[in-house]
Amino acid sequence: MRYNQCRDLRVSEVGVGCYSLAGVYGKKDLDEFARMVRRAYELGVTFFDTADAYGDAESILGKIVRDFRSDIYIATKVGVVSGASMDLSPARVKRACEESLARLGTDYIDLYQVHFDDPKTPVEDVVGALESLVASGKIRHYGVGHLPADKIARYAEVGRPLSVLMELSAATRDARAKLLPLCREHGMAAIAFSTTGRGILTGTIREGHVFPDGDIRQYDPLFQREQFRSALRVAGRVAEVGRRYGKTPAQTAIAWVLAQPAVVCALTGPSNVSHLEENVGGSGWRISNEDLASFEAFLSEEDARLDRERKEAVVGILSSPLPADPQAAFKDLVYAIDTAAVAGMCAEAQIVPVFEELLALQKAPGEQAAGKLDDIRRRLAAMVSGRP
Ligand SMILES: NC(=O)c1ccc[n+]([C@@H]2O[C@H](COP(=O)([O-])OP(=O)(O)OC[C@H]3O[C@@H](n4cnc5c(N)ncnc54)[C@H](OP(=O)(O)O)[C@@H]3O)[C@@H](O)[C@H]2O)c1
Repeated sequence: MRYNQCRDLRVSEVGVGCYSLAGVYGKKDLDEFARMVRRAYELGVTFFDTADAYGDAESILGKIVRDFRSDIYIATKVGVVSGASMDLSPARVKRACEESLARLGTDYIDLYQVHFDDPKTPVEDVVGALESLVASGKIRHYGVGHLPADKIARYAEVGRPLSVLMELSAATRDARAKLLPLCREHGMAAIAFSTTGRGILTGTIREGHVFPDGDIRQYDPLFQREQFRSALRVAGRVAEVGRRYGKTPAQTAIAWVLAQPAVVCALTGPSNVSHLEENVGGSGWRISNEDLASFEAFLSEEDARLDRERKEAVVGILSSPLPADPQAAFKDLVYAIDTAAVAGMCAEAQIVPVFEELLALQKAPGEQAAGKLDDIRRRLAAMVSGRP
């Protein structure tokens, strides 16, 4: 395992995350998860990521690492109250920190990350609360998570965030345009997550793959339509590069992330020992500059094709009636909203409240939902076409 020095933390370049304990990738075996975490420690992983919003993940991780707590770093997150509702008010940040400490069974958190944005709380107030947690020794450092680039820049101006957490894999590359340059400009560490592309770059997922109920990949735009087909083409190319080095697709996907400037840790979320052992092998070797360059040329063609195809798909979804089945309609709208934001078809700030409205409808009864979903479709169509 190789390590990167981030201030006083010696971070393993492959880190392990606990998001799967929230059930997002199907049901997991907790005993096997515990064996996986212990094996990660034996193999030199020092960085373990969790969140107060990942179900029981903090308590589970805290118990597993109790015997080697001081040898590792625990990163957790604050801000989510429930669903898409955020609260970063100073009182809430301080209370949430105490609660996380209790669940983790530890006296300090190595990295406390702002999970999502809370537009109601000024950045100065959030930073004030985080700095006072640093001063009291309850947290060693703080970082930021899924925030718009301008908000991250504001945190860097007002405070001293150690890191920026961002989704980054060969299948999900948008962070390279704004977030990595921002990290370099402000001297922040990039911590990449979903580095195996939520499994898609491991060679185990193919066209027609059926995910179990409750698995977010049933709705995740990366696993739908042209984005899925594009990701599978990327996965094929990743596997091809890996074969030249005798490495598996997952190892090659992780090595590619580690080759991106400013990335100090590639987080992956295996739930068993075998996947963990494989992923740790993403560290300790490098893809040559020549192979990186030819992969880059392939990715730019893929970017241009995907950009064109996904914009056409958004316009197609928003300009025709939604499917009669509310779940299928919901899935199409999630795809359209996420893609419109990522492809820059409308402003993120404009789209967030609509996304929250949509999420609230996921479990609404069919007939009630149908009218509301169609209303969301019309409003989105207006936003995308630039009308008020
Ligand atoms: N995903 C997010 O939205 C998010 C956001 C912020 C932070 N994070 C943090 O980043 C961590 C990593 O993200 P992630 O969990 O999305 O990572 P990931 O490794 O890209 O995705 C995890 C999925 O990939 C599968 N997988 C991983 N390695 C594999 C391998 N070698 N072979 C076959 N399948 C493999 C896992 O299957 P198995 O369960 O079968 O091993 C699981 O279904 C999270 O756990 C969390 O701590 C994530």
